[in-house]
Amino acid sequence: MTYQTLLLEIRDAIAFVTVNRPDKLNALNDQVMLELGKAAESIASEPEIRGAILTGAGPKSFVAGADIGDLARQGPFDGKARAQRGQRVLRRLETCGKPVIAAVNGFALGGGCELAMACHIRIASENAKFGQPEVKLGIAPGYGGTQRLPRLVGKGVALQLILTGEMIDAQEAYRIGLVNKVVPAADLLAESEKMMRGILAMGPLAVRLAMEAVDQGLEMTLDQGLLLEANHFGLLAATQDTKEGLTAFLEKRSAKFQGR
Ligand code: COA
Repeated sequence: MTYQTLLLEIRDAIAFVTVNRPDKLNALNDQVMLELGKAAESIASEPEIRGAILTGAGPKSFVAGADIGDLARQGPFDGKARAQRGQRVLRRLETCGKPVIAAVNGFALGGGCELAMACHIRIASENAKFGQPEVKLGIAPGYGGTQRLPRLVGKGVALQLILTGEMIDAQEAYRIGLVNKVVPAADLLAESEKMMRGILAMGPLAVRLAMEAVDQGLEMTLDQGLLLEANHFGLLAATQDTKEGLTAFLEKRSAKFQGR
């Protein structure tokens, strides 16, 4: 698959995906969303990809939101359709079964903040800025911001960000739990890769089922979520990876996981 608006490079099992419209601060137009959907599908289905790191081209912006030019032309029905298409793309990324890290290298506004929130982990450079400024444009978040932001930072802080449209810096995003880590800009990709390599050294089936339990469990009652967790725990006991992980510990050696 060739991309016009994304760069996708697979290096040692990690897909490095870069939104590549730096002249428009990597704003998400329809082409970017289409290609992000294809990239999410590749990440999910291609066995040589075991995790993905998502970033934006250029020093200034991760993604500065949905493309305002596209939004200016939409009516109510295509507006709804655009929101649902975008939501599906982000959800596919979130449920691709492999870890996805957002390496946030600058503005993550509107759809950019929403895209980062659909990733499993967010690492921000010191110059990153976050916000849901849609209300300033007379619109509301449409790619999951009203749903994922309160799940990540709590209802009160989420409403403050969504209703005021204010922009916050990386340290504030870290303080409220929106990002996992803040690093110097020069170290962003290396730090993201380091964390990803650490995750990829773990049992891949265990990683996959743990992500699934967290994702699905958040929408369940505690008892349902606990049952799901116990089912996964039991299922993993039938895998070679679990036997290898436990035996390796007892034999005082590193585990060699095969993903089966
Ligand atoms: N959609 C379309 N184009 C965008 C964009 C977006 N969301 N964000 C930035 N751009 C474009 C600008 O129009 C400009 O294009 P031009 O050079 O052809 O005029 C280019 O990217 C550079 O942006 P500019 O505004 O000149 O950079 P800046 O450093 O002065 O400001 C921002 C940076 C992020 C503060 C500002 O671009 C901005 O507010 N963007 C919109 C953010 C937003 O509301 N996102 C949510 C959309 S739902």
